[in-house]
Amino acid sequence: MALLEIKNVDISYGKRVTVKNVSMTLEKGEICSIVGESGSGKTTVIRAVLGLIAGGGKVTAGDIIYEGRSLLKLTPAEWRELRGHDVSMIFQDSGAMMNQTRLIGNTYVEYIQTHEKISKKEAWDKGVHMLERMRLPDCDRIMRSYPFQLSGGQRQRVGIAMGMTYQPRLLLADEPTSALDVTTQAQIVRQFMDLRDEYGTSIIIVTHDLGVASYMGDKIVVMRNGEIVDQGDRDYMLHVSDNSYTTMLLDAVPSLGGRRYV
Ligand SMILES: Nc1ncnc2c1ncn2[C@@H]1O[C@H](COP(=O)(O)OP(=O)(O)OP(=O)(O)O)[C@@H](O)[C@H]1O
Ligand SMILES: [Mg+2]
Repeated sequence: MALLEIKNVDISYGKRVTVKNVSMTLEKGEICSIVGESGSGKTTVIRAVLGLIAGGGKVTAGDIIYEGRSLLKLTPAEWRELRGHDVSMIFQDSGAMMNQTRLIGNTYVEYIQTHEKISKKEAWDKGVHMLERMRLPDCDRIMRSYPFQLSGGQRQRVGIAMGMTYQPRLLLADEPTSALDVTTQAQIVRQFMDLRDEYGTSIIIVTHDLGVASYMGDKIVVMRNGEIVDQGDRDYMLHVSDNSYTTMLLDAVPSLGGRRYV
């Protein structure tokens, strides 16, 4: 059984059907990259999986099945349980999602204590340890900072650390590394892969970067105008697909020193 199955899903904001007939599956331990131009519906689709579509958007057709049960029928309590334990989401600008008036450490400790019955001190140490894994410097100081006192890249790494704290079974990441420099981006991409390799986490990553998409993705999904126009495993998408839009995206990837990386 697939971990996640999105079946013929339409999503509407008000009367406008924005996402049309989207279907994809994700196996346990699989990484799927979603690429596509701005406004094509990538964020809308992954937010739908977590029941967090912004602006009153709704799934108006189809079904989303997680481990054999429809997510569209969950009660609010079941959603909380799922979001707390099984599925986590990393946003494009996690820093902006944090409470700006609270110390990062307090936010993090509270988050940890909703998952585990451990002392504040233990939770703090756990937070520091996770931040260290994101290669953040001087993590104790970071815990004692407000979000606005950190750089954008540091804040994003705090968000990624939080999203990875409990080795979710499914990680949804919406352009998690776009705001980061290439070195940090490469480290974090590696950590996503480690999470999959060590814990069998399945990942859906939305990215504008076809290099990242093809490096990470066992599967690549291409969206345009709210629809999936092409999808398949990496080798097929990079070397076999003759879909004109996929080919155009690949051709647009710059080559470095004459070498193409995708
Ligand atoms: N809160 C909202 N209310 C109404 N329409 C929305 C809302 N959020 C997104 N949309 C519309 O849904 C469509 C898809 O948006 P979405 O954010 O999913 O695109 P995206 O592929 O993630 O784009 P980007 O690469 O720019 O992040 C767009 O036409 C957008 O205008
Ligand atoms: Mg988006």
